[in-house]
Amino acid sequence: MSEPSAGRTPRWWERGVIYQIYPRSFQDSDGDGVGDLAGIEQRLDYVASLGVDAIWLSPIFPSPMADFGYDVADYVGVEPMFGTIEDFDRLLAAVHARGLKLLLDFVPNHSSDQHPWFVESRSGKDSPKRDWYIWRPPAPGGGPPNNWISDFGGSAWEWDEASGEYYLHAFLKEQPDLNWRNPAVEAAMFDAMRYWLDRGVDGFRIDVLWHIVKARGFPDNPANPNWHQGLGQRDLLIQRNSTDQPEAHAIAARMRALADQYGDRLLVGEIFLPNDRLVAWYGTPGRPEVHLPFNFALIENPWNAEGVARLIADYEAALPPGGWPNWVYGSHDAARIAARIGEPQARVAAMLLLTLRGTPTLYQGDELGIGEVVIPPDRIRDPRELREPGLGLGRDPSRTPMPWTGNAPNAGFSTADPWLPINADWATRNVEAEHEDRGSILWLYRDLLSLRRSTDALSIGDYREVEARGDLLMFDRRHGDHCVRIALNFGETAIDLSQSGQVLLSTLGRSGRPSTLRPNEGLIFLAGEPH
Ligand code: NOJ
Ligand code: MG
Repeated sequence: MSEPSAGRTPRWWERGVIYQIYPRSFQDSDGDGVGDLAGIEQRLDYVASLGVDAIWLSPIFPSPMADFGYDVADYVGVEPMFGTIEDFDRLLAAVHARGLKLLLDFVPNHSSDQHPWFVESRSGKDSPKRDWYIWRPPAPGGGPPNNWISDFGGSAWEWDEASGEYYLHAFLKEQPDLNWRNPAVEAAMFDAMRYWLDRGVDGFRIDVLWHIVKARGFPDNPANPNWHQGLGQRDLLIQRNSTDQPEAHAIAARMRALADQYGDRLLVGEIFLPNDRLVAWYGTPGRPEVHLPFNFALIENPWNAEGVARLIADYEAALPPGGWPNWVYGSHDAARIAARIGEPQARVAAMLLLTLRGTPTLYQGDELGIGEVVIPPDRIRDPRELREPGLGLGRDPSRTPMPWTGNAPNAGFSTADPWLPINADWATRNVEAEHEDRGSILWLYRDLLSLRRSTDALSIGDYREVEARGDLLMFDRRHGDHCVRIALNFGETAIDLSQSGQVLLSTLGRSGRPSTLRPNEGLIFLAGEPH
């Protein structure tokens, strides 16, 4: 695979690593049990100490919190629970003072039903903002206009008695979909993007970008022949007509043009699609779209060496010329990596993520190896779990507060009872305790990040698979004549390595020139040396 950056200086986000902060759960500064901007500012030295390059903040805008900030009631303000615009400016300056970048979370597909635009739109069929949202009369025989299902279960249409029409909501009924076919909506949303870019933010993660335009005429979605018990209602249908429309690509290209007017800003698109359609969101050299369409392959696929080797190969092969790859295995929406595969393999996963070719995104708390957190029924907050209980769709277990210390109430996150419980093992699994233990997973992350930063082969080099057999995945990263080899053991038995070189890093803290991979071990070593 050739280097897209060959012949020019890599852009900051190509070498860089993104760290996602979920503001409600990072650090509370005002004793209300919910994290806030001043809390994040207090913990910036920790973030910088990890060795990441950019922070992506989940939404901080005024919100009734029906979907914890992904229901925005004002695109150009700060949620009072999180602080003020002055707090934001201070945080941004403090981020920049540490040489870090800041990405905000832009939520263009839908607003809150409390947004003044929707309140106006809902006021009647003649409202000047009626067409800012998606209103339809009932189907000819009555009932919702089509069969579309909300991602959180139930019809995607909500009946509005007062005005006698349905409105569309791809998520909660408190999150009405905006009508991006209306140029006034685009203009208003682009103004909001400019507002934050003018303030100095370094870019956006764009929420459900592939949802923003729906097929004309709102045809039914086809049934999903692969649906089975245990899946959520969303998956009953294939979202053919409600997502991934050509017109949305044109909007993404205009968003990109807007961002490019500001210089080196970054757009990351949240897009769940198979590779061939995912990579279309890079756009073309003449009409670029987002810099990084999120690649969720490591979240969506089982964890085994041969399968992971295949998904890397498939993704690399799908990338268009100049399309810079990216990888992610955790977020506020997905089960935590250590909960999925256990801490020993979570270490191997960390080595994989931070040695793959492409920009990695880390999710807060994964660097501590936080695993399964059981949420007692009376503490469930995620509307997705409340609406479709018991299917394992709930996202609260990944959103629990950061444990900072074993020596303060609520792990140092808050003086008040936190909005979600903290991981049960917080007394030992916390930042302070792991900082004091050189063998902790926290130090593994720091060591990986520092090695990646100092090694061009790892940050911008080529990727080449060497071997994928049984529990072994081995690949090379090469830059010029410098080559490092990564060998990962996805299993519980030792694997003989016919050759190895000087170890640069082991997930188990070993050094030397080992000729075997221990169970659950990952190694980075200098390749090309005789054993
Ligand atoms: C994706 C976000 O990551 C998720 O948390 C949210 O519920 C949906 N988009 C709707 O905005
Ligand atoms: Mg607070």
